[in-house]
Amino acid sequence: MLCIGHRGAMGYAPENTLISFRKALELGASCVELDVYNVQGSLLVIHDERLERTTSGSGFVMDHDLAHLRSLTLEQNQRIPTLEEVYREVGQRAGINIELKGPNTAGAVADFIAAQPSAEWALVSSFNPQALKAVCDRNTGARIGVLLPEFAAGWDHLDISMTVEQFNPYSLHLPLKNVTAGVVAKAQAAGLRVFVYTVNQPEDIARMAEFGVDGVFTDYPDRVKLPPEKGVVRGWP
Ligand code: G3P
Ligand code: MG
Repeated sequence: MLCIGHRGAMGYAPENTLISFRKALELGASCVELDVYNVQGSLLVIHDERLERTTSGSGFVMDHDLAHLRSLTLEQNQRIPTLEEVYREVGQRAGINIELKGPNTAGAVADFIAAQPSAEWALVSSFNPQALKAVCDRNTGARIGVLLPEFAAGWDHLDISMTVEQFNPYSLHLPLKNVTAGVVAKAQAAGLRVFVYTVNQPEDIARMAEFGVDGVFTDYPDRVKLPPEKGVVRGWP
């Protein structure tokens, strides 16, 4: 089961910062997940639409210019990193799941991936199917992950055939609350890896392993036990 560090290792370090991504790898994650906004053509790694929770700033991310956003401080004196900084830090050593947030992010992320020597490190996901389609249509070679939100009625009747046709996705990213053995089997039968978010409790990690999911997003990468014979696998399998 693949260990994907959620916003790095946010259980141990300020989320979506360079020290958080470094920590995730130190703790054994093969891959990291991050959230990206396009601010005036620059790709910034931050989760919330607003600045208050994680930075010294206030207001909406998209209402500020790059210079101001880069001047803000986060916990442990960190700054909001760019996608390029994270790629330089961990892109050679781990897979990166870029989750698209905000407007006009898909095209800029596709441009960034296309400018790198290989797309092997990149898995692009989004809750927004149109954004995913835009990345798909660019043929960058990046893997595509379809991200589904929590759904009150569960996903047992999920029809993934249309999703598969539209995006030819590598993976389906499901909320822990909605994962059942049936959904996992159905997605895997359609050729998709199943990655589950956000799995932090040891009993949930064990349950996901029993279901045979392909990976979990976790704030605590050290809680996901790696098969001793394989050790740490880097990047997307
Ligand atoms: O990509 C998995 C997970 O990060 C999706 O939700 O809100 O943490 O970005 P969120
Ligand atoms: Mg995310």
